[in-house]
Amino acid sequence: MAYHAIIPAAGSGSRFGTELPKQYAMLHGKPVLQHALDRLQQQFPLDRLYVVLAADDELFDAMISMTAIVTPLRCGGATRGASVHNALLRMTDVVDDDWIVVHDAVRPCVDADSSLRLQRELATDGVGGFLALPVTDTLKRVDADARVVRTEPREGLWRAQTPQMFRHGVLRRALALPGQDAWTDEAQAVEALGLKARAIPGHAFNVKVTFPDDLAMASAIMVASASRR
Ligand code: CTP
Ligand code: MG
Repeated sequence: MAYHAIIPAAGSGSRFGTELPKQYAMLHGKPVLQHALDRLQQQFPLDRLYVVLAADDELFDAMISMTAIVTPLRCGGATRGASVHNALLRMTDVVDDDWIVVHDAVRPCVDADSSLRLQRELATDGVGGFLALPVTDTLKRVDADARVVRTEPREGLWRAQTPQMFRHGVLRRALALPGQDAWTDEAQAVEALGLKARAIPGHAFNVKVTFPDDLAMASAIMVASASRR
C-alpha cells in the first residue's frame, strides 16, 4: 500500500489580488509552493508527488526545486476539483488501496504532528479523511445588508483543511461524479459518493493563504513555530 500525493497549484489567486500567483509569493526565502512541497515530502512516505500547474505556468521551472519523486503536470482545470481529477487520471502504477494525499499549494505551514496523526488515525480506514478544526467563533447568518437573521449553532461544525487523504479507488470514483465544479475539497466529492470521510484534528497554524494578510500570518507562524523547537 503506497502513498502518492497531488498538490493542486493551478489557481490564479483572484482573492489574493497580485499579478504573481500567490503560490509563488516569497515566504522566508522560498515560494509558498516550495514550503508545501518540502513539508509534504518530509511528513509522508511518498512514492510520487504530482504538482498540478496551469497550462501557461511559466514560473514553476524557474522558481521550484524538485526531487526525483516530483512530477509537474500541466493539466490544471477551471476549478480545483477539475485540477485534482485531471491529475488522478494521469497517474500510473496506482492500485485501489493506495493512499492519495491532496494538499493545497497554499498551505505552507502544515505541521508534522498533524500529518502523522492523519496517517495513524486512518491507517486501517477504507475511505479516508482530512485534517480539520472545530469551529470556535459564534456563527451569524446575515442578510444582504449584513444584518443578523439568526445565530447558527456551531456544535458539530468543523473547518476542513488539507492534507486530505483518500483511498485511490474511492477518490477516483468520487471525482468522476457530476458536480466537480462546485466542490472546494476532496471530502465533498467523497460525501457525494455517500461515504463518510473522517475529520482528524489538525492545527490552527495550518493556514491557507487566501488574502494578503494570510501571508503575513504564515510568516508569523513560521517564526513562532521555529522558536518553539
Ligand atoms: N487550484 C487549482 N486549480 C484551480 C483552482 C485552484 O489547482 N482551478 C488550487 C490553488 O492553486 C490552491 C488550491 O487549489 O493551491 C486552493 O485554492 P484557492 O485557495 O481557492 O486558490 P485560488 O483558486 O488560486 O484562489 P482564488 O479562489 O482566490 O482565485
Ligand atoms: Mg479558488
